[in-house]
Amino acid sequence: MKTIILPSKKKVAETVADLIQEKIKKKPNLVLGLATGGTMMPLYKELRKRKIDWSKVKTFNLDEYVGIKKKKDSYHYFMDKYLFSKINIKRKNTHFPKNKDYDSEIRKAGGIDLQILGIGVNDHIGFNEPRSSFTSKTRVVNLSDETRRSNSRFFQSLNSVPKKAITMGISTILKAKEIYLIATGRKKALAIQKAVECKPNEKIPATALKKHKRVSFFLDKKASGKLGD
Ligand code: PGA
Repeated sequence: MKTIILPSKKKVAETVADLIQEKIKKKPNLVLGLATGGTMMPLYKELRKRKIDWSKVKTFNLDEYVGIKKKKDSYHYFMDKYLFSKINIKRKNTHFPKNKDYDSEIRKAGGIDLQILGIGVNDHIGFNEPRSSFTSKTRVVNLSDETRRSNSRFFQSLNSVPKKAITMGISTILKAKEIYLIATGRKKALAIQKAVECKPNEKIPATALKKHKRVSFFLDKKASGKLGD
């Protein structure tokens, strides 16, 4: 596992965008696993600004809420708003989990070349909450109270945050050929400390990444603040 610490979240976004741009240049039909949430906004802003030919790229998003009341609260809407509507990607090449066939859809596309991940304050990756099995595949899960509270900032109230989501499983994520995890801000410092310093165990989902050979953590100074404490 590589840990790359950068001075600011802007620098994190620029660095990851550079790497994605290079990968698409080398392999125009790259299969890219994408994430949503506040951490990804600077990255998508950066990617939108660049001259990248997305016409052959395929994307697979990590997760989606189940039972969303307003379309604009969905991750599908988030991706359209912050990235897909601003680039020349073909909508038929963008995918969101709908049922357990997602793992085989990914396989048929040749597997994910690069998976982008955020991390939850409780160390979730995708919506794989603590105690998710490391062998889990795409499935519907219950969201923890902590995750619902943390994500309520994107909703009108805590009550309107869905209680369920569909997410790639941990084994789905670990099948990606390469993984970049991005974390910025002091709020993520403890989650990052656990992910980096604890042995793989299902109470801390992000520790599963230690089982993968090509994982890089891109952190700003604040998110790396507790490493080595
Ligand atoms: P955030 O979410 O970027 O909105 O903090 C990250 C996550 O829950 O994976």
